[in-house]
Amino acid sequence: MLNNIILPITTEEAQFVFKRCVEQVRRNLKLFTYKFPFAASENNFYQPIDNIYWTTGFWTGQLWLAYEQSHENIFKYAALIQVESFLHRIQNKIEVDHHDMGFLYSLSCVAAYKLTGDKNAKKAALMAADHLLTRFRDKGQFIQAWGNIEGTSNYRLIIDSLLNLPLLYWATEVTKDKKYADIANKHITTSLQYVVRDDYSTYHTFYFDPVTGAPSHGETCQGYKNNSAWARGQAWGIYGVALSYRYTRKKEYINIFRNITNFYLSKLPEDMVPFWDLEFTNGSKEPRDSSSAAIVACGLLEMAHYIPENEAVYYVTIARKMIQSLVDHYAVDDFSISNGLLLHGTYSKRSPYNTCNHCGVDECTIWGDYFFMEALMRLTKDWETYW
Ligand code: GLY
Repeated sequence: MLNNIILPITTEEAQFVFKRCVEQVRRNLKLFTYKFPFAASENNFYQPIDNIYWTTGFWTGQLWLAYEQSHENIFKYAALIQVESFLHRIQNKIEVDHHDMGFLYSLSCVAAYKLTGDKNAKKAALMAADHLLTRFRDKGQFIQAWGNIEGTSNYRLIIDSLLNLPLLYWATEVTKDKKYADIANKHITTSLQYVVRDDYSTYHTFYFDPVTGAPSHGETCQGYKNNSAWARGQAWGIYGVALSYRYTRKKEYINIFRNITNFYLSKLPEDMVPFWDLEFTNGSKEPRDSSSAAIVACGLLEMAHYIPENEAVYYVTIARKMIQSLVDHYAVDDFSISNGLLLHGTYSKRSPYNTCNHCGVDECTIWGDYFFMEALMRLTKDWETYW
């Protein structure tokens, strides 16, 4: 349900909130320059980890956004220290046995290269793109999700991976080698063919036969059940399709975007921030996933560049309302209660029907914080994306 009471956030207010986010990032530099925040907070406070998880790039991305907003070198120096860590990680193949090279390297090293021309950042991001190519499966034509690629029990793609493809398009741009974009194009085509259901809800994961490559079946890992729509998965789909259009200009992606977005919007509770699975609607006691709303806002603002003006205004207004709701009810405005930016995210909630580990329920998530800042950046500046 779309709320007519929430007013779209103004550019001035977005600027004000963005500056407050930058202050929180500054407070975190001491703890998180040589270390990284974990994926989700514990009691709303992130604990430090080494650069070993799929989420560490979201923090470096926040440093780059803080640098762009403030022009203060303190953020650039901290981010460049982390770029060295990302180079070390890919050179030594530390915890990179998965598809999330884009989440890790677009927001840290591609951003660094675009903003500073740093040579090590370019080198690291290209190595990550090469590594991502190794997960492409000819049989089935997709980039295999997490886990050992030799194994057959993980012969699947996941909707989240659409966000990892801009790294490949960037690699083609800088090397002029089309192999990266070719694989990205193939992965998008396969993903959209199988993860989008007839009602425009989406599967989280989709399996293929490892011998023949034939499509097998959809399942969830982090959603409530196999035939529900995980709120963040649908959000990855919305932003992923917008970014896919950015790089391919395939007109059919605009219609897919419209349809999966409309499904998502039709499931929102009154404050326009979803429960963790779109199965749950107004009145549910289930936790929210604020990160899903922040991701969708970025997707709507991205797609607004490519569609007719009246439709663009509609989606931008929705994005502004979602961000206003996040500011009013989810954002941290008292730094003593949290070292994050956005409360009430859900990383993965165990249900009787899913297979995920229970972690980070009703907590800050580091990507929720990143996309909240990215949306504020998009609302205040004509922004050159890191994706
Ligand atoms: N890409 C994993 C997640 O969204 O939790």
